Amino acid sequence: MKKNPRIAVLKERAPGETRVSATPETVKKLTDLGAVVAVESGAGTSASYLDEEYQKAGATLGSVAEIVRDADIVLGVQGPDMALLEGAASGAWVAAVHDPFAQRERVDAYAQAGLEALALEFMPRITRAQSMDVLSSQSNLAGYKAVLASANAYGRALPMMMTAAGTITAARVFVMGVGVAGLQAIATARRLGAQVSATDVRSATQEQIMSLGAKPVFVDKVAGIEGEGTGGYATEMSEEYQKAQVELVSSHIAKQDIVITTALIPGRPAPRLVTDTQIATMKRGSVIFDLAVPQGGNVEGSVADEVVERHGVKIIGFSNTPAHMPADASALYARNILNFLNAFWNKEEGYPVLDAEIGDAIRLTQGGKVVNERLLG
Ligand code: NAI
Repeated sequence: MKKNPRIAVLKERAPGETRVSATPETVKKLTDLGAVVAVESGAGTSASYLDEEYQKAGATLGSVAEIVRDADIVLGVQGPDMALLEGAASGAWVAAVHDPFAQRERVDAYAQAGLEALALEFMPRITRAQSMDVLSSQSNLAGYKAVLASANAYGRALPMMMTAAGTITAARVFVMGVGVAGLQAIATARRLGAQVSATDVRSATQEQIMSLGAKPVFVDKVAGIEGEGTGGYATEMSEEYQKAQVELVSSHIAKQDIVITTALIPGRPAPRLVTDTQIATMKRGSVIFDLAVPQGGNVEGSVADEVVERHGVKIIGFSNTPAHMPADASALYARNILNFLNAFWNKEEGYPVLDAEIGDAIRLTQGGKVVNERLLG
């Protein structure tokens, strides 16, 4: 890395990706730090950030080849193909959501090219890294959007309404998985006036559910269940627990109008939470939104970007939910990156220098090799 590093902001190429990794606001702040920022022409258009705004904020514009040439740091939302990175400085950082388990070949190519790939989704869940956590910022918006998309597909209203023509009862919304997305889904459904209940395997979430005015629905008869693994994430549950959960959910789900599922287990396919048999017990016109679709889905029969109808119930799930709100998703993602670079900016050197705790967690490749423990293990 050199003093006043060159930062390149790529236009995303993945189908359906509408976000961008820097906004005019973050470009200005990166420039204030001393970086020289170049943005690929049109990079922010799908997120409503215009080329002129980037220029005004201090960036130069150019083609991908022009902006990547001699770049020290390349920023993306999704990991860019190697072909786009020709000409980057030796050892340049490529910071993005690399999805390295699914994109292993691409990671190997970064290593071969001598690039230093940084997987932003591997940011450790520690207090000082909260403002850099792209999974949190994007999940929060996804939880919100899941409720809105479900409300839209639901042929009834969410709040109770007393009208001259009669009373409409409040919809019942059930949120399964109460991490960042689930908490926002509960809050959003409550704001819309629904009667909300929620479940999780981590018993610590019961209090959070109640504090948002929702009702916790928990398996409490199975001894020794905490459900909490490292870093606050869930673990896979015992067979006994899973059986008890199915029974509990089966009796509850039949009474629900909207079900939002968000359950994930790091490094594993998403757990199956709702079966076709359970869907058959739901009322016609009910809606299920499966936020875990990109990781294999929590709901039997869910298909990415399709509305599947089973037993009169609509099952929805997006392959990229944050991309459905590109302006805010980009604003938060870009701020996560700014917070990250700013936290490690070494004033004397004039460029960012990572420490071991965060550097080792997110660095995938260095010195021509794949170096991340999670990929080597
Ligand atoms: P996630 O996206 O990995 O999973 C979503 C939720 O699904 C989790 O609450 C998980 O317990 C739940 N789940 C997994 N299997 C389930 C099953 N079979 N049935 C029902 N629910 C199931 O989780 P997310 O949103 O990434 O958050 C995980 C934890 O990390 C939370 O405690 C959150 O507060 C914490 N966190 C900490 C941060 C920090 O300190 N920097 C930043 C973000 C989150």
